[in-house]
Amino acid sequence: MAAWSLFSSDIAIDLGTANTLIWAKGRGIVLNEPSVVAYERNSRQLIALGHEAQAMIGKTHRDIRVIRPLKDGVIADFEIAESMLRAFIRRVSTGALPPRRVIVCVPVGITEVEKRAVRDSAEQAGAKDVYLLAEPMAAAIGVGIDVHEPTGNMIVDIGGGTTEIAVIALSGIVAEESVRVAGDEMTNAIIQYFRRQHNMLIGERTAETIKCQIGSAVPLEEEYEIEVRGRNLVTGIPQMIRVTSEEIR
Ligand SMILES: Nc1ncnc2c1ncn2[C@@H]1O[C@H](COP(=O)(O)OP(=O)(O)OP(=O)(O)O)[C@@H](O)[C@H]1O
Ligand SMILES: [Mg+2]
Repeated sequence: MAAWSLFSSDIAIDLGTANTLIWAKGRGIVLNEPSVVAYERNSRQLIALGHEAQAMIGKTHRDIRVIRPLKDGVIADFEIAESMLRAFIRRVSTGALPPRRVIVCVPVGITEVEKRAVRDSAEQAGAKDVYLLAEPMAAAIGVGIDVHEPTGNMIVDIGGGTTEIAVIALSGIVAEESVRVAGDEMTNAIIQYFRRQHNMLIGERTAETIKCQIGSAVPLEEEYEIEVRGRNLVTGIPQMIRVTSEEIR
């Protein structure tokens, strides 16, 4: 065993638009946090990240910005994404050294420039060897598909920013399509719908709750209903209405 392995461990990172997960060899999933960062606007100093930063969305004053440094599955704000990755890696590191080998999952539709940005971030965070792995391949292995088989398996991964569809056979991706439309667009569509249909302003978190609790693509045996609180766009007064899963479809 090489000496460094006593002090650092190998990790795999799913740097998602919505959530970041880190798996450490021998320890399993050690981090699962929203990919959200709160920072001081002028100094760009990190204030909070993950769940803590997400709780600040819509509640900050002018000097604090809360952002998601990834957009459509790729890095949008390089500096902030790198600080986030570094902080997350530090949080899960137990040894004296940062992890040496790091696998980062990336969307299949990613460009060379975007790949470079992901690789640089991981290297800046201390990783010596960085491997990029296509997300559908990681998903296939994760759900227990034998990816070496000479038969095709189709993976559809709907994330926050991207939807990845891939056919995997013989350890490779045979056909792929990456669409930059996913869960976030659905959340936004709900916000727009309330604005248009009910003259009501609802926040992103409310819209996401509606989507997750009563959202459906096909008619349900028993339709659901939920109470939604927001602000009337005309009067400015807070209001509450009930909506059904049928209406959200
Ligand atoms: N129960 C649910 N019903 C509908 N949508 C859900 C549910 N749970 C989570 N989501 C949505 O899934 C998305 C997050 O998925 P995921 O964590 O896989 O994304 P990600 O990997 O961070 O993003 P990407 O792969 O695009 O970079 C969010 O838009 C979230 O609202
Ligand atoms: Mg993902």
